[in-house]
Amino acid sequence: MSSKTPYKVLCVCLGNICRSPTAEVVLRHFCDEHQLNMMIDSAGTSNYHPGKAPDERSQKHALKRGYDLSALRARQLKPQDFIEFDLILAMDHENLFNIQALSQKAHAEYGTSQIRAKIALMSEYDQTYLKQALPDPYYGGVEGFERVLDQCESSSLAWVTIFKQQFKQQIDAK
Ligand code: 4NP
Repeated sequence: MSSKTPYKVLCVCLGNICRSPTAEVVLRHFCDEHQLNMMIDSAGTSNYHPGKAPDERSQKHALKRGYDLSALRARQLKPQDFIEFDLILAMDHENLFNIQALSQKAHAEYGTSQIRAKIALMSEYDQTYLKQALPDPYYGGVEGFERVLDQCESSSLAWVTIFKQQFKQQIDAK
């Protein structure tokens, strides 16, 4: 990563209206706070809600903690994302499986040398929720939406530590 080129991260869940938009905004908040040069986006493995704003409940709970999700719009994950993003973060293990399956399609479509994206769980390095799923809150109650925010905050802080180590190693290696 040079100081001019942002490191690009894509947060991915099923519908792109609850977990991944929350992860996008929370991760951006902590990266901005730590002055990391990042570009963060989100997408869904499904095409259930194209162009839709985040779920009203996700928006409401996020806003209570100061996160504004209102400008985001849902979109589906596509093979091109694997050549554009450096890192794709899955919110749960089913998302991870589906992302890996689409990555095979991207390899076939673009050629392996073009693929940039590493794939990991949102909770990959989070010692509190280590490699745990971010539970889907869509069909549940209010606790589910608070849990998504708790986990997104915890996992984003863990990623900030990893990004700082990674970028420092790259600077030191120059
Ligand atoms: P998300 O939640 O994957 O966190 O955005 C869901 C949103 C919608 C649906 C499922 C999960 N759905 O079935 O429409």
